[in-house]
Amino acid sequence: MWTLKSKTAVVTGGSKGIGAACAEQLVGLGARVLICARTDSAVSSAVESLNANSGTAGGSACGVVCDVSTKEGRSALHNAINSQLGGRLDCLVNNVGTNKRAKIEESTEEDYRTSKYTIFLKQFQDFSPKISNIFFAVMT
Ligand SMILES: NC(=O)c1ccc[n+]([C@@H]2O[C@H](COP(=O)([O-])OP(=O)(O)OC[C@H]3O[C@@H](n4cnc5c(N)ncnc54)[C@H](OP(=O)(O)O)[C@@H]3O)[C@@H](O)[C@H]2O)c1
Repeated sequence: MWTLKSKTAVVTGGSKGIGAACAEQLVGLGARVLICARTDSAVSSAVESLNANSGTAGGSACGVVCDVSTKEGRSALHNAINSQLGGRLDCLVNNVGTNKRAKIEESTEEDYRTSKYTIFLKQFQDFSPKISNIFFAVMT
């Protein structure tokens, strides 16, 4: 059977919706999954639920409260990857974001600023040389 045992994953916005569903699948396949979101209670209850329903593949979940639209939040996420995933990242589900469908000449600076964190993959890749071989999934 296909397995993600011994693999690590981050799901941004993993406390509910599509992100929570992705986290559930990854845990069920055996991965160690770090989720993040801005609401402390939602992160705690999502992690609890993921671990309570982890199945038999050996997967598990952990969480960090952070806002990935801010530099501080992304730094907190990076620190959590080091402390909770041992600095290893195999899969990033870059789920948090927004997508304004407008012609480029009609987009404002604010549109660009608010959507920028949805495409922070390259920045993420450059965060640390220890993080390599990342599979990216972009949800926006
Ligand atoms: N639902 C759809 O039909 C649909 C269709 C196409 C694409 N998408 C895309 O799929 C993604 C998820 O959609 P969804 O419907 O599952 O959303 P959702 O139910 O609103 O869940 C969003 C998740 O992201 C977290 N989050 C939001 N902003 C954050 C931030 N700045 N930093 C950290 N965590 C943050 C939320 O928790 P907190 O609020 O506690 O931070 C929550 O866990 C989005 O990128 C959306 O654009 C959705």
